[in-house]
Amino acid sequence: MNILLLGSGGREHALAWKIAQSPRLDRLYVAPGNAGTAKLCENVPLKVNDFDGIARFVADNNIDMLVVGPEVPLVEGIADYFKQRPELSAVKVIGPSKAGARLEGSKDFAKAFMMRHAIPTAAYHTFNGTQLAEAQAFLETLQPPYVLKADGLCAGKGVLILSNLKEAKTQLAEMLGGKFGTASASIVIEEFLSGIECSVFALTDGKHYKILPEAKDYKRIGEYDTGLNTGGMGSVSPVPFANNAWMKKVEEQIIKPTVEGLAEEGIDYKGFIFFGLINCNGQPKVIEYNCRMGDPETETVMPRLKTDIVELFEAVADGTLDRCTVEHDERAAVCVMLVSGGYPLEYKKGYEINGTDKVGDCLLFHAGTTIKDGHLLTDGGRVIAVTAYGTDKEEALEKAMDAAKTVTFTDRYYRRDIGKDL
Ligand code: AMP
Ligand code: GLY
Repeated sequence: MNILLLGSGGREHALAWKIAQSPRLDRLYVAPGNAGTAKLCENVPLKVNDFDGIARFVADNNIDMLVVGPEVPLVEGIADYFKQRPELSAVKVIGPSKAGARLEGSKDFAKAFMMRHAIPTAAYHTFNGTQLAEAQAFLETLQPPYVLKADGLCAGKGVLILSNLKEAKTQLAEMLGGKFGTASASIVIEEFLSGIECSVFALTDGKHYKILPEAKDYKRIGEYDTGLNTGGMGSVSPVPFANNAWMKKVEEQIIKPTVEGLAEEGIDYKGFIFFGLINCNGQPKVIEYNCRMGDPETETVMPRLKTDIVELFEAVADGTLDRCTVEHDERAAVCVMLVSGGYPLEYKKGYEINGTDKVGDCLLFHAGTTIKDGHLLTDGGRVIAVTAYGTDKEEALEKAMDAAKTVTFTDRYYRRDIGKDL
């Protein structure tokens, strides 16, 4: 089997690392990939939304399977693009149709879907640009903090949580006025939920599903969850409160009705579903859906998946996922993200990275790196994810911290408190 994986972050390096272990694999390509994936397989200089370029590469290189890492090509309909072209329709695409990707691509669609299928989530109301006065009046009926969500994709920046009513009204007006372009043409105003978050992942073939190891990610730049939001500063798997009883609720009340709901509505969905959950006094509720794996959750979830992922992907494409069993590694995994100083605001690129050969049995998943004249250089805000295993979270954390210290570059920063809140 020849596989093309789309994407260029730590998530894709972790997916490539897992795919590369499969005895079913012949050749693996990543487009565009990074310096980490270049060591495992062949990088292809194609953008993830260049559907025509991807199609040509697939045809020219006898690609059997396309695995889509990020959400943008899915929301733009890459699965439908392949299905509609006779010469590409036999390619097994791992990722939902455009209709399925609306679970992530439209917050209003996702909320309405959850209402239709009685899936526990925060109460909400959606408003468009003609309804500013109504929306502001609605805010007045709520208790702070106020949660405002742009309906469309905003690269993780479309959710605002505000404690002040005046500020919330101003932000609401700015969003409906086009702050995020067409993505904020509609706004979901949502009840604030308090609790600890947990990311749960399932693979589905549209009829059946398998649950992957869960993880918790750490979004804020500062230790003990302070400061600005980032793309993710680390992750931990397993999550202690996601015990059997809690996961049973998640499966019965959330995962099952989601997969059944998609099927009932005739929505073609073959791929990952990411359930962004919050634990409200023992009751799991959905904060958001994503139509892909999480980053940096994938950097702990893939290391804890024992089953051959290519076997699972084939079953997803063939609709035979019910015949598979998914084995989770008993060990804990902790991921610590090394980032460039200044991130998530301004930061510099092009610093030499040293010490990647001194991390012992830890795994390094590259997020933003490049090779220039034989030197490994920083090439993004998030640079390298360091993942360690341990018999428990504490041991994994200690090993990840030791390895994080040995990988150095100018102005490197990382959080030292990952997993300590659990
Ligand atoms: P998202 O970009 O949709 O992942 O949302 C960003 C973050 O905002 C989430 O991970 C939560 O931490 C927070 N959030 C979103 N919705 C709510 C809510 N209804 N109540 C509390 N926190 C929320
Ligand atoms: N870690 C959260 C996300 O990938 O959206």
